[in-house]
Amino acid sequence: ARILVLISGGGSNLQALIDAATAGAPFVISAVVSNRSDAFGLERARRAGIPSAVLDHRDYGERADYDAALATLIESFTPDLVTLAGFMRILTPHFVAGYSGRMLNIHPSLLPKFRGLQTHRRVLEARESEHGASVHFVTAELDGGPVVVQARVAVRPEDDAETLAARVLAREHVIYPLAVRWFAEGRLRLNADGVPWLDGAP
Ligand code: GRF
Repeated sequence: ARILVLISGGGSNLQALIDAATAGAPFVISAVVSNRSDAFGLERARRAGIPSAVLDHRDYGERADYDAALATLIESFTPDLVTLAGFMRILTPHFVAGYSGRMLNIHPSLLPKFRGLQTHRRVLEARESEHGASVHFVTAELDGGPVVVQARVAVRPEDDAETLAARVLAREHVIYPLAVRWFAEGRLRLNADGVPWLDGAP
């Protein structure tokens, strides 16, 4: 399967996907697209010999115009699956509808808890005893699409947002390649009711 990865920043999840593909997972990362030219993930793509492109949202007036250009760019790489990996742009419902069942995101919380930004700080403020990360299919509702797989971590008394983020990120690097592998194997899909289906799940 051909996977396209959208990023805005460091790209450690991109790296986890690159490493999985290198280690023999049944997918190829066909391209990396960033909305920021200074995203370190672009350097990771370069080192791995993966084509990359920058599409700067500041060059577009309307969100819909950006998303139309983004869709054209994505389609030029003919991916089977689009993965959002720290892509910090809200996508229009029209764009998202075009990728129904073909777009995954990873979010650093145990969805449906803590959608949106600054999840680690908010988890600490709420005095949660556990936290984690979720891979979900992308729908028009921000961080609201159906969850495919989650990883849980304990919140420790000495944690600050940084230590907690690091513990969660390490789990993200496990579950994102896992979900992408399931999709590539044809085992994971979104059924007609919008429910994720995993063949061979216990
Ligand atoms: C991750 O925590 C991801 O869950 C969130 O943004 C962060 C991206 O990190 N959506 P990286 O760029 O993959 O290192």
